[in-house]
Amino acid sequence: MKPTRENWSSRIGIIMAVSGSAIGLGNFLRFPTQVVENGGGAFMIPYFTAFLLLGIPLSFAEWTLGRYGGQYGYGSTPGVFHLISGKQWAKYLGIFGLFVPLVISFYYLLIESWCLAYAFFSIMGMYRSISNTADLKDFLQEFQNLVPPEQLPNFPWQLVFFFITFFVNYWIVSRGISAGIEKLSRFGMPILFLLALVLLVRVFTLPAHPNAPDQTVMNGLGFLWNPDFSKLSDVNVWLAAAGQIFFTLSVGMGAILAYSSYLKKEDDVAHSALSAASTNEFAEVILGASIMIPATFVFLGAIGAAEVVKSGSFNLGFVIMPMIFNQLPLGNFIGFTWFALLFLAGITSSVSLIQPILTFLQDEIGLNRKKAILIVGSITLVVSFTLKRTLALGTLDQFDFWGGTFLPVVSGFIMVIMFGWVFGAKEGWEELNRASKIQVPKLFVLIIQYITPLYLGIMLFLWIKKNIPTIVMDDIVDLQVWKATLIARGGLIVLGIILVILIYIAGKNYTPKTKQHKG
Ligand code: ALA
Repeated sequence: MKPTRENWSSRIGIIMAVSGSAIGLGNFLRFPTQVVENGGGAFMIPYFTAFLLLGIPLSFAEWTLGRYGGQYGYGSTPGVFHLISGKQWAKYLGIFGLFVPLVISFYYLLIESWCLAYAFFSIMGMYRSISNTADLKDFLQEFQNLVPPEQLPNFPWQLVFFFITFFVNYWIVSRGISAGIEKLSRFGMPILFLLALVLLVRVFTLPAHPNAPDQTVMNGLGFLWNPDFSKLSDVNVWLAAAGQIFFTLSVGMGAILAYSSYLKKEDDVAHSALSAASTNEFAEVILGASIMIPATFVFLGAIGAAEVVKSGSFNLGFVIMPMIFNQLPLGNFIGFTWFALLFLAGITSSVSLIQPILTFLQDEIGLNRKKAILIVGSITLVVSFTLKRTLALGTLDQFDFWGGTFLPVVSGFIMVIMFGWVFGAKEGWEELNRASKIQVPKLFVLIIQYITPLYLGIMLFLWIKKNIPTIVMDDIVDLQVWKATLIARGGLIVLGIILVILIYIAGKNYTPKTKQHKG
């Protein structure tokens, strides 16, 4: 029926690729600040609840649907939803599995390019002589072109590193699943862990602050993990935990589904899904949490650290961390290690965000890989570039608000309903356990059919309620920002319309079978 699709060349290859997709900037920049802001150790209660009731069931669902769809030549949510339902309308519900990863990739590439630039700046010692945070902030803003034109740097560093990042990403995906993404992951993931280990050792051997003997690494870990159970009654903490789980595991993004569609029929999914999710949790809870915050605490103490956490994870990662490196022997090398770690974590995630739309265009629209890459790459270049130019107007935040925060949950909700109620929870459970090295208990059927959708439904309701002012743009005072927000939203709508048209075209190629999975 369809041309033969590619396959992963090894089991470890896909586990590394899915772990690579999951382990990203979210683990090292986003997670630690979420913990400090949402109750320290107490945050682990909503976090692991969301991991068990949302993250794992959704991972299982995406892995299973992906492998299943791949057998029929489909690796995107529109194709798979049509396949399992046999209904023409179902394909439109799959739009989020294309929209979400694409929108995230537009800004993720940009941030990733900052990490690459800073890795270069570190090794070249370009911020080494700057000792205070205010000047390091200026350095960042100059680099991001957030200064008046007369203060712009002589050399367009941001542009150069953005193009390098863009081309490396698209070069990797152009090589295909096995020769591109799998190779990157097999090579990149061990290095990523090595870099994290080097940083971990460096942070854990930091002496106490010379003027404040209480500012030790151990107290820094205490500052991070000390549980504040009173926070558990705050719904925002539960929302933050669910949001972090979605972002960090890359669930609801269509990425895992696209990756697993390149599995063979007899490949394991249950055990691989658990391995990838646990690798991510190790990288997040153990490594991610043990670098940035404890180091900040040693240098700034509890009050200072609490203050900078409020100023956001970018400030911590790109201003405070360089300030710390500058005070350490071999600071250039440590700085390089930190930003190289972020870049590697970023690139193994961004290729997984680009892949779903490529899979869709190739399998379901019938484009060859080169054409698909040319089209997606050109659109990405224009949009990412526009986001870069309009950074100060909050366009990137708009994309993150819709594409990175709200719609993954909507997408996840649709995914569990399609899996639990359309494919059938019992059939899904059997398909999940087929050819598996472990048997997932039957309790999964109950969870995926009732508990996960209910949990997601409640989270969505609370999230919308909390964000009404942002949704209706009531919280914007600046007219320029207001206009830019409208334009950004307009752009997202146009992208949505283009995808609807493409899904309509793809639908013409879908085989009109009903209940194929039972046939
Ligand atoms: N899962 C990726 C991250 O954590 C997107 O950054």
